[in-house]
Amino acid sequence: MTSSARRVSLTGIKPTGIPHLGNYIGAIRPAIELAETYDACYFIADYHALTTVRDRAELDAYTRSVAASWLACGLDPERVTLYRQSDVPETFELQWVLSCLTAKGLMNRAHAYKAARDRNREAGVEDLDAGVSMGLFEYPLLMAADILVMEADVVPVGRDQVQHVEYTRDIAERFNLAYGDRFAFTLPEHVTAQDEGEHTMPGLDGRKMSKSYDNTIPLFADAKRMRKLVRRMKTDSTPVEEPKDPDSSHLFAVYRQFAGEADREAVRARLLAGGMGWGEMKDLLADRLEEVLGGPRGRYEELMDDRAQLDAILAGGAERARERAGRLLAKVRAAIGIG
Ligand code: TRP
Repeated sequence: MTSSARRVSLTGIKPTGIPHLGNYIGAIRPAIELAETYDACYFIADYHALTTVRDRAELDAYTRSVAASWLACGLDPERVTLYRQSDVPETFELQWVLSCLTAKGLMNRAHAYKAARDRNREAGVEDLDAGVSMGLFEYPLLMAADILVMEADVVPVGRDQVQHVEYTRDIAERFNLAYGDRFAFTLPEHVTAQDEGEHTMPGLDGRKMSKSYDNTIPLFADAKRMRKLVRRMKTDSTPVEEPKDPDSSHLFAVYRQFAGEADREAVRARLLAGGMGWGEMKDLLADRLEEVLGGPRGRYEELMDDRAQLDAILAGGAERARERAGRLLAKVRAAIGIG
């Protein structure tokens, strides 16, 4: 199959922090697998991050860290178009076009915006829009533009982003209804990592690993710090000799994501049999993390230290992304009667 006939997989990663183990299992690893069969476009959604990140050094550092993490985890920039959202200005032009076709009421019902209003309501703030920027309000529109500008077929996302992909379809359909005689968008579908929900990745305190809970383990923490963090993970006080239930253990929940089937079953059996303490389980987990992530960490550090190398990779991706986006915008402009 020629590359232009391959279906397109696209996702955006918001640079609001240093990637952690939950990001790796929930987003990075499955998206890299998808890139085996799809024409993949993965980008760093730096303009989306601007809705919350105000520190310019931080925005820059997180953007680089996210890009370096994906590359270190095996994303091949020759096969995958990896780029910064801000390097594709066609996205923002398309966003305007889409905004003219999108009902404001649709944005009113977007969950992040509704959550912000709920917080104000609960806090007794009279103006429910207090603290809500236009960027937050329009967030789903920018996301629709990200997806449609590359004519994506599938969008791998976490469950919290499914509504946004559904919105993208709605918005695309509006466009198609108005201009479909000249040009119609592909309607994208979301895909969620198949075992999300069944096996969420727990953080240090046992709740879902998330930056907002401040319970994360950085993907590329050095070996010593990684071990220290693993030691801090929450366990119950079952004594060493007693049998333990692997399925209710946070440690095992992390371990199973990084182990092959044989090791997973062996450790499961040992926990069930009793005789293995949580201390030993923690060492086992830390060893496994080092085995899997030690190599990639070296590559991550190299990329973080070599701005020119990382910039060159992102510039290559930007060039390819802009080519694609430019072709799409030409069709959109012709369809709507501009230029
Ligand atoms: N909103 C997504 C998130 O917070 C990031 C994102 C931006 C995205 N644009 C996208 C994801 C387009 C998929 C497709 O995780």
